[in-house]
Amino acid sequence: MNMIEIPKRYDGTNTLISTGTHIPLLAACIAHTSLEKGPVVELGAGHYSTPLLHYLCAAMGGRQLLTCDSDPDWIAKFADLARPWHSFQLIEDWGTCDLFNRNWSVAFVDHGDRPGRGESVACLADRAGLVVAHDTEPARKYYGYDAAFAKFKYRFDFDRYAAHATVVSNTDDLLWLNG
Ligand SMILES: C[S@@+](CC[C@H](N)C(=O)[O-])C[C@H]1O[C@@H](n2cnc3c(N)ncnc32)[C@H](O)[C@@H]1O
Repeated sequence: MNMIEIPKRYDGTNTLISTGTHIPLLAACIAHTSLEKGPVVELGAGHYSTPLLHYLCAAMGGRQLLTCDSDPDWIAKFADLARPWHSFQLIEDWGTCDLFNRNWSVAFVDHGDRPGRGESVACLADRAGLVVAHDTEPARKYYGYDAAFAKFKYRFDFDRYAAHATVVSNTDDLLWLNG
């Protein structure tokens, strides 16, 4: 039988558009925490992450999910997904919001205040079991992720596509992501 030669590493051509490249890592983190079923928070609503999280949480019997955004017109597009277990919160200021006084199983950071995303990740260091962040590639230094990620013991980068996604944790060694 003829065998094709399989390169060790995919060449990075971005077959997903940049807005959806967090999907595999985010879905994996929700699945990984499916037994404990702790609450999930989404910082930044959108057509990729909000329906994805909604239906994953639905499949777990209505896992608590909070979707947040700072744009009222934008968050309204997802209002049909509101359920007793899926709530929505409009955020005035990501820097002072109450999300960082609560504990989360998974937190996903992808909000529109791009230079403020790192600060949001940092505020979740003692509050969330897993923090997933989008657009974490080195070219986006101004997002402030480097200083935020330094507050966590464990880190995994999903860098298959041009727009990277990263999960960080202080309680989970993330070794399960290496298969
Ligand atoms: C960065 S996106 C979040 C994407 C989301 N996490 C996802 O994966 O689908 C959130 C912000 O983008 C802004 N936004 C406005 N129009 C948009 C559009 N057409 N596509 C994407 N984001 C838009 C919204 O105001 C919102 O605050």
